[in-house]
Amino acid sequence: MATLTVANVSKHFGGVYALRDVSLTFETGQIVGLIGPNGAGKTTLLNVISSVYPLDAGEVRIEDQRIDSTTPRRCALKGIARTFQNIRLFDRLTVRQNVEVSHATSKRYRRQYLNGLTVEAILEELELSDVADRRAKELPYGQQRRLEIARARALVPEFLLLDEPAAGMNEAESAHLIASIRGIRDRAKCGIIVIDHDLRFIMNVCERIHVLHMGELIAEGPPAEVQKDPKVVEVYIGSRRSRRAAG
Ligand SMILES: Nc1ncnc2c1ncn2[C@@H]1O[C@H](COP(=O)(O)OP(=O)(O)OP(=O)(O)O)[C@@H](O)[C@H]1O
Ligand SMILES: [Mg+2]
Repeated sequence: MATLTVANVSKHFGGVYALRDVSLTFETGQIVGLIGPNGAGKTTLLNVISSVYPLDAGEVRIEDQRIDSTTPRRCALKGIARTFQNIRLFDRLTVRQNVEVSHATSKRYRRQYLNGLTVEAILEELELSDVADRRAKELPYGQQRRLEIARARALVPEFLLLDEPAAGMNEAESAHLIASIRGIRDRAKCGIIVIDHDLRFIMNVCERIHVLHMGELIAEGPPAEVQKDPKVVEVYIGSRRSRRAAG
């Protein structure tokens, strides 16, 4: 078992504090949700954990090894894989080739974690075997999101970060996705961090939830508790009210 620690992390863009002194931990084997209104800092947190952005203060560690402020590639080799809010596949490669790129990297640098995991097994796990020879850009949106997860999965990470994996999916597709995410956790024993705006999806797939609001952590705990937390209720009702007032 390993722990991912985010300690006193701050990140600002000009005058905007996207993260302000955020501290939290994630364990392998757990599926954890990250929720909060638009602009709360959720994606920024994934971006600093995966070294897409350097942080301004604090540190990120797996066990006692620092993984912050390196490059996204080195971070991936140290056990962090992710998907993106705006899908970023190799559009012109086939589905299988997209997964092969990551799998080849793992064969070279993370072989000890592969445990015989094949590209075909990953395609099957994410229900992409039937479309393996199609180009990524030809896939419907829901399958593109699955392919992003498959490609990240092929890096055999200790922590898999998913930024809005169910966005744009209908109810049946997201129920299906929950089963796939649980399956990955059960087989890979990795930690999975999921951002989504669909609270039902988050409540169903996650065992713990962290809530961000304006760059600060305002609540954390099991879904049933977090849902009732007065600060969380205020933030969600408040943001709905301000959207109505604005629109
Ligand atoms: N590259 C950037 N340059 C400037 N400002 C940024 C950048 N990335 C994020 N921000 C700002 O930081 C804040 C947090 O943004 P972030 O994207 O992390 O929010 P989020 O919680 O993921 O929101 P959403 O639910 O809309 O995806 C916002 O005010 C955003 O405008
Ligand atoms: Mg975001």
